Amino acid sequence: MVIRTVMMTRTTGTTAMTARTTVRPLQLVVSVAVIAAALLAVGVFLFGWGRNVPASLVTIGGPFTLTTHAGEKLSDTDLKGTPFAVFFGFTHCPEVCPTTLWEMSESLTTLGDDADKLKVLFISVDPKRDTPESLALYLQSFDPRILGLTGSEEAIRAIGQQYRAYWQTVPLEGGDYTIDHTASVFLMDDAGEFIGTISYGETMEARLEKLRRLISAEAA
Ligand code: NI
Repeated sequence: MVIRTVMMTRTTGTTAMTARTTVRPLQLVVSVAVIAAALLAVGVFLFGWGRNVPASLVTIGGPFTLTTHAGEKLSDTDLKGTPFAVFFGFTHCPEVCPTTLWEMSESLTTLGDDADKLKVLFISVDPKRDTPESLALYLQSFDPRILGLTGSEEAIRAIGQQYRAYWQTVPLEGGDYTIDHTASVFLMDDAGEFIGTISYGETMEARLEKLRRLISAEAA
């Protein structure tokens, strides 16, 4: 999409340059050409010259196999046919995770039976401490339909990259640590395709609206 825009801008620039002779349009043409060149440079940097342009600029999501808080394996293929909401966090999180999980629990309660048409995944970015057992204990405070997931450091890093999720370990006094992390909930349709996010702090109304849309996307 970026490449296409760049090409159009570039063509416009070239056409204008041959057609206009006065100073002002020339300045405009130069500006357009400079912007076009910059965009082109970015395009070349991002995709490499001559490579095929991907269908969507950023792909979010992808294959994974992790372990649920019940100790069972769960893969992306198990989720085919079911829309799902994914959230990255950790059980020692002081605020963002418990708030999000509480709000998600409230949403599921409000959705009632419709809530069974989607899955909510809580993926630990702290697999060292978040074993299936500790996830199970932690999730007792929230809606039982929320599925905790953990795995090896490598598996967690890989799924984090697939979802463009960010996290960073922050050392605390006394050798303890906390983790800064992406607070958005990723919404994935029944084919595992990314369709949007719920941001931290969004109203319950907006949250419910997005979840309802996610559920109805299943039927489409
Ligand atoms: Ni958190």
